[in-house]
Amino acid sequence: MVAATHQREAQSSRQIKPYMLVAGRYLCVNPNLSATHQVLGRCRVKVRSSSRIEMEISGLDSNGRQFKNADEMWREEVGDSQKKFDWYRNGVGYWQGVEASVDGVLGGYGHVNEPDIKSSEAFLNTLLTDLFPNSGRNQHLVALDCGSGIGRVTKNLLIRYFNEVDLLEPVSHFLEAARENVAPENLLVSEDHKAVNFYCTPLQEFTPDSGRYDVIWIQWCIGHLADDDFVSFFNRAKAGLKPGGFFVLKENLARSGFVLDNEDKSLTRSHTYFKELFNRCGLSVYRMKDQKGFPDELFPVRMYALTTETPKRVGPSRPKRQLNRPALIK
Ligand SMILES: C[S@@+](CC[C@H](N)C(=O)[O-])C[C@H]1O[C@@H](n2cnc3c(N)ncnc32)[C@H](O)[C@@H]1O
Repeated sequence: MVAATHQREAQSSRQIKPYMLVAGRYLCVNPNLSATHQVLGRCRVKVRSSSRIEMEISGLDSNGRQFKNADEMWREEVGDSQKKFDWYRNGVGYWQGVEASVDGVLGGYGHVNEPDIKSSEAFLNTLLTDLFPNSGRNQHLVALDCGSGIGRVTKNLLIRYFNEVDLLEPVSHFLEAARENVAPENLLVSEDHKAVNFYCTPLQEFTPDSGRYDVIWIQWCIGHLADDDFVSFFNRAKAGLKPGGFFVLKENLARSGFVLDNEDKSLTRSHTYFKELFNRCGLSVYRMKDQKGFPDELFPVRMYALTTETPKRVGPSRPKRQLNRPALIK
């Protein structure tokens, strides 16, 4: 009965994705496999003699197929230009068939909108206080909402903190809904807060204007990017940040390894997987926080604040450790 509920959800929700907990680890919920045939994702970090850390991450797909590492999976999915073209066409194609509503972009879990925005706002407030301590609130702040869908995050959060918000979304009927949702007459903010540019393009093809943004917000869409496009997107986007600007990445987390969704062509990555990609992008995790208050059957969700510089310690530096050396007794 419980399994059946999970199975229905697995078929109906994307990005906001259910998983099944067994003995503290996740199982990909696959309606075609019995529980005994479900397989676990695993992850291992291997140190090569060159001292470069290489990930040996095994994972699985939504049909329960296991991959021995991410390379094997990516070779199959995006290994030549036709496959890569199909990967992105199918990803966007999935969302083209989804209703332009909060429930639609949240995979049938419209009720998580409120706890999602609440946690994001607390996280953003902490970051703004930390990173723009002096003039932050009087500065003219600009944000980019990536994979914005219908403008849910912009409307409920970003537009209240940023004077200008640009939205990027490859699915045109979502972007049209976003235009409507964040039109000045539908917002409760002053005139100096507005949505400015609406880019109908995917992340892998986007290069932001140099030095335009204080914050680039990327929520529930980076899973659509293959690893190489993930790295090149962040490398281009770094140039789009103002000095001191930062990224917020909010994503589902696989407990280990990765889970490929065959239907919407997206990858749920583990924390270790993300960390390896952040390293490749030259990004540091300044702060991270786990989302609370979501239904148990969903993947855990984490917020990362990423900076291009190694974070400086905030607050007083740690006092030198008192060494417990033996002293001479005179
Ligand atoms: C789960 S929805 C999240 C929408 C929005 N970020 C939110 O939290 O309400 C995933 C979004 O990613 C978008 N998307 C799919 N492929 C993408 C790509 N290659 N680049 C940017 N966005 C993409 C979809 O069109 C969809 O709007």
